[in-house]
Amino acid sequence: MQRMLVTGGCGFIGSNFIRLELQTNPNLSIINVDKLTYAGNLENLADFQNDSRYQFARGDICDKEFINSLLKDGSVDAVVNFAAESHVDRSILDSSPFVQTNIVGTQNLLDCSRQHQIKRYLQVSTDEVYGSLGDDGKFTEETPLAPNSPYSASKAAADMLVRAYVHTFNFPAVTTRCSNNYGPYQFPEKLIPLFISNALQGQSLPVYGTGLNIRDWIHVEDHCRGIGAALRQGKVGEVYNFGGNSELTNLDLTYALLEALGKPRTLIRYVSDRPGHDHRYAIDATKAKRELGWEPKTIFQEGLRQTIDWYLSNSAWIERIKSGVYRSYYEQQYGSRLN
Ligand code: NAD
Ligand code: DAU
Repeated sequence: MQRMLVTGGCGFIGSNFIRLELQTNPNLSIINVDKLTYAGNLENLADFQNDSRYQFARGDICDKEFINSLLKDGSVDAVVNFAAESHVDRSILDSSPFVQTNIVGTQNLLDCSRQHQIKRYLQVSTDEVYGSLGDDGKFTEETPLAPNSPYSASKAAADMLVRAYVHTFNFPAVTTRCSNNYGPYQFPEKLIPLFISNALQGQSLPVYGTGLNIRDWIHVEDHCRGIGAALRQGKVGEVYNFGGNSELTNLDLTYALLEALGKPRTLIRYVSDRPGHDHRYAIDATKAKRELGWEPKTIFQEGLRQTIDWYLSNSAWIERIKSGVYRSYYEQQYGSRLN
């Protein structure tokens, strides 16, 4: 594989993926397509801005003309779709951008990729499409889809489009579904960076409901390694689950964060629950191990320590996001070409 088009590469996982791919594959070049929504940040890949193997193109995955213009010279071997509206709470407030980007955007990428005979397409999906688990069991790739939030419903719809394109057109797509990621460059609306940043500023940590909901945390680099493996070794039409084998209640995670930061538990504030809040996610990644030779490597306690250290050393990154500095810079830089 020589050249990839990666969408949503200015977000959390996409930027970690591009960094890992460029660091480990000297002959690879990447075009990063990102609309730079509130969650997209050019600074996440500032270390590659002078690397000739990396090209940034601001644009919307829903824009057919724009995507076709990037694919038309036939040099792109693979498309990896990270671009999405990704935050469950925002989807509860307004699902329109979720339907637009996550469903219509995926459909557009599939059409453009098919038109230009892209050899490999990878859809980055989520374990949330499976719905919620009780106290036992894990999601396998055979678990029926039962999305509960507008966000997960839009991701499940995209997965179904990918499935249909494989079935109908023999389109060379692979889908991955991963549990909750943590690590550097995560937007501070998600639990871990939000709580680290609030605790550092002496602000309260809003725990939804009882705090007993369970998530299976995976280090973003493990997820990115899995995506690379599925892209290169995955079978067309297949789905691969990735998880971190690190189930924790939100409350236990919050205690661990406060302890690591040397902050008191009195910062915890119980707030009303997220409507429709999924109780538990847990992943059975046997198939990824068997077919891709993939396993998560990062031990949660170590990954969390490294992540906290990263946020401590990059507190200015979060402050710039919170103060809206990036947004005004991008508006000046790119004007009203989009939005
Ligand atoms: P993120 O919100 O940090 O980043 C999303 C990126 O997509 C941003 O850079 C944004 O500007 C860009 N984008 C949004 N709409 C776009 C559009 N219409 N055109 C082009 N770019 C657009 O999200 P993330 O947490 O990095 O998640 C990336 C992908 O991984 C998503 O598809 C998400 O569903 C999936 N996923 C996330 C997790 C997780 O724990 N964060 C777990 C499993 C799967
Ligand atoms: O499982 C994969 C999914 O993980 C991804 O598909 C999503 O893109 C990603 O956002 C994430 O979804 P969650 O809703 O699980 O992540 P979030 O960080 O928003 O919340 C994690 C848990 O913490 C969840 O049970 C809700 C709770 N929570 C979250 C926030 C932001 C709180 O208690 N308080 C908070 O302020």
